[in-house]
Amino acid sequence: LDLCRKLHGDPDLGTIPFVVMSSNSDRAVMRQLLQWGAAGYLVKPFNLEQAVITVEKLISDHFLILLKERERLDLEQKMMLAGITSLIVALEARDQYTRGHSEAVALLVTRMAAHRNAGPEEIESLAISGRLHDIGKIGIPDHILLKPGRLSEEEFAVIRKHPVIGASILGSIPSIKPLLPVILHHHERFDGSGYPDGLKGEQILLWARMTAVADTYHALISDRPYRRALSHNRAMEIIDEEQGRQLCPECVEAFQSLMGDIQNDPFCSSTPDRGTYQKPPAVRMIPTGLIPGRSGISGISSSF
Ligand SMILES: [Fe+2]
Repeated sequence: LDLCRKLHGDPDLGTIPFVVMSSNSDRAVMRQLLQWGAAGYLVKPFNLEQAVITVEKLISDHFLILLKERERLDLEQKMMLAGITSLIVALEARDQYTRGHSEAVALLVTRMAAHRNAGPEEIESLAISGRLHDIGKIGIPDHILLKPGRLSEEEFAVIRKHPVIGASILGSIPSIKPLLPVILHHHERFDGSGYPDGLKGEQILLWARMTAVADTYHALISDRPYRRALSHNRAMEIIDEEQGRQLCPECVEAFQSLMGDIQNDPFCSSTPDRGTYQKPPAVRMIPTGLIPGRSGISGISSSF
């Protein structure tokens, strides 16, 4: 009885089902043991078949409970993501220049992860953080977020708050916690010149460094209020120049390798030139010679 009471009260062991085998056939004792967490009671002498059937039943009940719990968590996660996705849609409805950006970053970063042989859970996490990385822009006033033309230093300072705003919006959702460093640090730079914390190199979570490459690429090939979209080739040149400076060399290498593979894919390279990139891409999103060359900026400082 003492052992059962201790097991029942132990936070680590209390959830493990156990069966009591005893020669005591007193009903009151049996009832007491069941109340204290015993999942079954076998009175000695018992045969092996009885024991096996009891344990099999326990395992099957436990499995069903775990399955139901998993289903409940999956449903909760789906509902939460649907709510957050609505926020992203609301954000992108405000700003025509970032429309489809979050989805495109999510797609690019998950393809990078798959290219590096990441597992399904990592890919799923990156898809979610890719979609959410700019959620903090919802807290940026219209006259700054939607301003046509270049931003002043003060306005940039406001824009630079969006990673912190995003992390605080999502900070109270337990299942998003592991993704917060991606939201918070997607504008950190490998050389330490980024924001909000000025982190350097591997101080920045790998997922945030990967997201930064995808984010930068997609920002470069998109029209901005103050410049037209750059060509795919020009964007790739800039990405290459920035490895080790703004961008993580390992992640740039993975991105270049991914793009090389996509371009060598005859299915992709047969896709016709589509002009200015606007929509979130499908799987064959970056065909050879995707975008006609345009005159434009020579750096990536315009990406925020
Ligand atoms: Fe951002």
